[in-house]
Amino acid sequence: MSINSINKKTSNKLENILIIGNGGRENSLAWAIQKNELVKNIYILPGNAGSKKINKCERISLDLNDIKALTSKLKFLNIDLIVIGPETPLADGLGEVLRKNNFDVFGPGADGAKLESSKSWAKEFMKEANIPTANFWKVKSLKQAKEIIFRSPNPLVVKADGLASGKGVFIPESKEASINATEEIFKGKFGDAGEIVVLEEKIEGPEVSVFALCDGKKYVLLPTAQDHKRLNDNDEGPNTGGMGAYSPTPIMTKSYLESIIKQIIEPTIDSLLRKNIDYKGVLYFGLMITKLGPKVIEYNCRFGDPECQTIMPLMDKDFVILLQKCAQGNLTGNEKIKMSNKFSGCVIATSKGYPHSYEKGFPINYGNIDFEDCQIFDSGTSLNSNGEFITNGGRVLSIVCQGKDFNKVFEKAYKNLKEINFEGIYYRKDIGHQVRLKKMVKRAN
Ligand code: AMP
Ligand code: GLY
Repeated sequence: MSINSINKKTSNKLENILIIGNGGRENSLAWAIQKNELVKNIYILPGNAGSKKINKCERISLDLNDIKALTSKLKFLNIDLIVIGPETPLADGLGEVLRKNNFDVFGPGADGAKLESSKSWAKEFMKEANIPTANFWKVKSLKQAKEIIFRSPNPLVVKADGLASGKGVFIPESKEASINATEEIFKGKFGDAGEIVVLEEKIEGPEVSVFALCDGKKYVLLPTAQDHKRLNDNDEGPNTGGMGAYSPTPIMTKSYLESIIKQIIEPTIDSLLRKNIDYKGVLYFGLMITKLGPKVIEYNCRFGDPECQTIMPLMDKDFVILLQKCAQGNLTGNEKIKMSNKFSGCVIATSKGYPHSYEKGFPINYGNIDFEDCQIFDSGTSLNSNGEFITNGGRVLSIVCQGKDFNKVFEKAYKNLKEINFEGIYYRKDIGHQVRLKKMVKRAN
């Protein structure tokens, strides 16, 4: 039996919640969780300057590596549920360590997180379970990579095997570029994450993110979302962590989703079970809808960012109860997500230079924001010595709006963005282009 499955609990106390992470994703989770009247305190470890603006939220600072001090403080705080946001602590095994210390944890152990922390492991997992994905080759040397690249009719996609903050994927236009990217990875561009390289056949089609809240055996699906990975309008420029998103995705019809459930979601969960991996947390399926059907581009062991910021405002107050049921292994499998029938969209405001190097420390100024059906989740902010909010990351703010159609959603998001300023502010002007009319508000910056 895996360590993750030893504690099946039924306490439904939800007074004190801990969220681990420091981004817009964690702030949006806190915002959705605070809606429930059972929740009295939300501690965010470490959160960012924006966390304190969220009802019931308090930032705490503790060393995640000092497990003894961490668990004793969490026991002192009577933490009822822990939600781990980012992939790194999950891949490092924090989920199972905290579970071993008798906490209810929403987040897989290192075994489940391997679906994200090793792309070659994830590809082999899919191959074994017959889950549709792009053809691939796992290589350990440049020589081996060259042979495969030369043999292939088209340039191959190149991926560092390990965690690289979304920067370890290259989509080359030529075989030479595939080789150069492989060489850079083997030379240590991503450190240990690049000891193995995955070469992949390039596939095409719109991308959709699907999230399953899992309790180890059963699951419940969140509304689907569409991310915008490229930096610039028209999906040009380098890949980023995500420049904006919308939810739900009209492309995902009920019957199409049914086929994804049968071909991809259920086989993944069954396969985890067969491997004795007790996956309690969110399983993120990054899918590409190709002419030959849906294929898995990647798995993540966490909520997507900015998809999470986009979806959370649609959740009703019982969302946190689902997280608790997952952490306790208590889903019935018949739960329905209770959610608003509005549409939601998010635009990310970044620092100039992101996803490459950028300066931080610029004051953030807000004009007249219309907060009805609009949330601003801080992604990378801090306070200066005068107590002013300043930029403190590549992705700075997530502007999220809801409305009865996507035009209204993005009209409001872009109107509010015009009221926000910091030196070098940058954002895409075409987030949601797939679902809104073209005549949108323009801003020159
Ligand atoms: P990943 O980090 O694996 O999700 O890759 C980042 C992005 O690169 C994806 O969202 C896709 O846009 C693109 N990508 C990854 N793998 C492929 C592939 N095999 N073919 C085409 N595009 C890909
Ligand atoms: N938005 C993509 C990701 O979180 O990986």
